[in-house]
Amino acid sequence: MSGAYIAVMKLKLLISPLAGGAFFNECVDVAISEFKEVLGARITDECTVQHERIGTMDFVNVGLGEDSFSALARLSFIQGAFVDNGEGGLIPLTLRPDFPLPKSMVFGWKYQGKTNELVTQLALNLALHHADTGRAPQTLLDPMAGKGTTLFWALQYGLNATGIEKDASALSAVHAQLKKQCKLHHIKHTAAHGSVGQKNKGSMGKFIKYDLAKQTFRLVTGDSCDAPELLQKQRFDIIVCDLPYGVQFKAGPKRSPLDTVAACAKNWLACLREGGAMALVFNNYQPKREELAALFSKLDTVVHPFSAPHRMSESIVRDILIISRKQEDFNLNRLVR
Ligand SMILES: C[S@@+](CC[C@H](N)C(=O)[O-])C[C@H]1O[C@@H](n2cnc3c(N)ncnc32)[C@H](O)[C@@H]1O
Repeated sequence: MSGAYIAVMKLKLLISPLAGGAFFNECVDVAISEFKEVLGARITDECTVQHERIGTMDFVNVGLGEDSFSALARLSFIQGAFVDNGEGGLIPLTLRPDFPLPKSMVFGWKYQGKTNELVTQLALNLALHHADTGRAPQTLLDPMAGKGTTLFWALQYGLNATGIEKDASALSAVHAQLKKQCKLHHIKHTAAHGSVGQKNKGSMGKFIKYDLAKQTFRLVTGDSCDAPELLQKQRFDIIVCDLPYGVQFKAGPKRSPLDTVAACAKNWLACLREGGAMALVFNNYQPKREELAALFSKLDTVVHPFSAPHRMSESIVRDILIISRKQEDFNLNRLVR
């Protein structure tokens, strides 16, 4: 027998004003793309996903059942949701994203080079949606973590967070921020620091580790190309990364970060569990989406068609590429043996 019948309701999803600062003129398109990618399987008719502007407010109108409300609450663009009673009345829904930590953990720290918080959340949602490792995702890696926006989000989603960053100064900055947040919000924790493996050349290979109530936060300094050694071959359910854009950040002697990603790609995949998913935020001017996709296609991965381009500036059109590591067919392997 099929499960209990869940009535579909007509909902209006209010797009957050913050989304304008994250996705710019393409804000509505990105919101619709995220909704369709993450919750598309639950809608019966794609045509019912429509944009509506009321006054200065932008809504995405959808038809959904109550079983989707918790997922709705975690969409990056959402400010609120209302049931449309069909007579011009809007009844607000209580959406609870159930994030365990204060908002300031993610939003309370501004610095040059920080990835927009909502863009990071979108990438995280996409990677989680596509992860199929045979268990609920528990671990995230950001192999170019900067000062940790992705890692702080991961904590909000109940994941264990690990980052690699080549700029050694990030370590002390993140340490200070975590210490401050834990003190401010009375978050019980233990903090440790040390070095990993043989890669401890100068400041490389140093790490800080925070154990919070149920989760771990770890940041390691080093070159992302050495990820398996730096992380002692640990494998992760998802990888989320905002690549250097080749404008503000230079990943190497060349302007495009493609060479660096090409050098790292195999090792990043080695850090991903079978069925794990990776979401890479990148500037579509360098590398081009097709170049980035081709690089991963060659490595026997699944590159998903999702795309949500949005122009940040004259020289940056940001987009997200989602890649899955294929599941090994264990049963087949066993049969063949
Ligand atoms: C776009 S920034 C990430 C910002 C980060 N999401 C945040 O909000 O703090 C890209 C980062 O990649 C780092 N990076 C570039 N090449 C790297 C490499 N080979 N290994 C590790 N980190 C690298 C840069 O130092 C920079 O901090």
